[in-house]
Amino acid sequence: MARSAKTFQVTIRNSGQTIACTTDRTILQAAIAAGIDYPYACATGNCATCVSKLEEGKVSLLPHSDAALGKAQLKSGLTLACRARPRSDVTVNWLARAGG
Ligand code: FES
Repeated sequence: MARSAKTFQVTIRNSGQTIACTTDRTILQAAIAAGIDYPYACATGNCATCVSKLEEGKVSLLPHSDAALGKAQLKSGLTLACRARPRSDVTVNWLARAGG
């Protein structure tokens, strides 16, 4: 299957950094690769440590547990950085540690 990954810009509000993230990587993977101390624990969509406000843009979410991110939270604009791949330029703000 030939699938070419696009690259989008991901702005991390907490650190004030903007990084490149390809569509085949999660925001968390790109952030860690860029040396950003993004809060996470499981990296598999189960713990909600990486829960973040999706302030701008669109993501596609990989499978995750409803306990980590339920439908109501999704509707309110939250996402899981470890499960979210960008579908546009995005801005996120993690909730775990105020001020990072
Ligand atoms: S790090 Fe556990 S849900 Fe993302």
